Amino acid sequence: MNKVIFEVTQEHLETGLRGYPVGYCTTSFVDPQKGLFYIDQPISELGNGEPIDVIYMLLNGRKGSQNEINHFFDDLKKRAHLSPKVIESIQALPKEGHPMKLFCSAILISGMLECKGDYKEDCLNIIAKIPLIVAAVISHHAGWSLGRNNPEAGYMENFNELLNVPNANKEELLRIFKVFNILHYDHGGGNLSAFVGKSVASGLEDIYGSLASSMCALAGPRHGKANQDCLEFTKLMLEHLGESATQEEVEELLRNKLKKKELVFGFGHAVLRVEDPRASIFYELASKHYSDHPLIRMAMLLREAGPKVLKENPKVSNPYPNVDAISGALLTAAGFSFPEYYTVMFGMSRIVGIAIQIVYERCEAREGKGVAIYRPKYFYKGN
Ligand code: MLT
Repeated sequence: MNKVIFEVTQEHLETGLRGYPVGYCTTSFVDPQKGLFYIDQPISELGNGEPIDVIYMLLNGRKGSQNEINHFFDDLKKRAHLSPKVIESIQALPKEGHPMKLFCSAILISGMLECKGDYKEDCLNIIAKIPLIVAAVISHHAGWSLGRNNPEAGYMENFNELLNVPNANKEELLRIFKVFNILHYDHGGGNLSAFVGKSVASGLEDIYGSLASSMCALAGPRHGKANQDCLEFTKLMLEHLGESATQEEVEELLRNKLKKKELVFGFGHAVLRVEDPRASIFYELASKHYSDHPLIRMAMLLREAGPKVLKENPKVSNPYPNVDAISGALLTAAGFSFPEYYTVMFGMSRIVGIAIQIVYERCEAREGKGVAIYRPKYFYKGN
């Protein structure tokens, strides 16, 4: 006998399926109080690790031995290339519009030319290829020269060399890129980009098309583009108040903004009810390495002032900072001061978790039959 696990009432309609159970996720979950877990590990224990170790864990549902990880990485390295035609096609794309549009197109192009039509194979392939796809997109859009593809160097090491950011301290960039990459792999089964990608895959679209649709979902300001918008907000606060701003001044400005019904960015989350533990990891790195940077100073002031001011409104369910409140300021402080690419960086990472979730839904769920085509019910309302 199936037990009732969620009762749907009229109040649940038109709320974006918020909290409504629809399936299983094998990679991660988000606890409102404890935050993100990959498999059974809290993100606080993984954030400063090695990307390949964490990807192995998400793929296999457990940590790997050094031997298993080496073997896995050897396999990934063999897959980490794109045909010259893919690169040339990406480099022929128009540069108008947001780079996320370019990124989504690049995934589709990769799929047109390199899709195998096997979810498991394509999952591993796209995880291996995505650093090169993203580096090709960003370098083309920015007008930088794409570095040499050398997967032997390491997953994010290779990305850093491929991207070849002009005048950057590459060691500092690598440190932040690795953490940023790990923290954004996955966020439970119901975040918008994961949900959209799995929905599209449920019609049996291949993984490239499904992930391109995920990335279109990620491009919106309520989802992935929030990291770019939060940085703009932090910059604006800094411009208004100057480098010697005090917490009281930040609080006052936030109160004024809220009074004028203006948006305050970087706080709250659909699931979390505490400071996002991913943000806490970034705050720690920021205060360790860049505490004097004006944007980091402002982000730290906002970390204290935001919850204080937002708590004054009893209707705010989560007044605490989310990951986007600090990720952009940290990337900027580390020398990657190109906000229009922050959502693309988010996407490079989130592709990993979504691709693995798609493999579960297509190949493993319901004893291998796969999840049925997504087809929720809508009530006819008329005009
Ligand atoms: C996130 O990383 O915070 C998300 O993708 C948003 C969510 O969990 O809904």
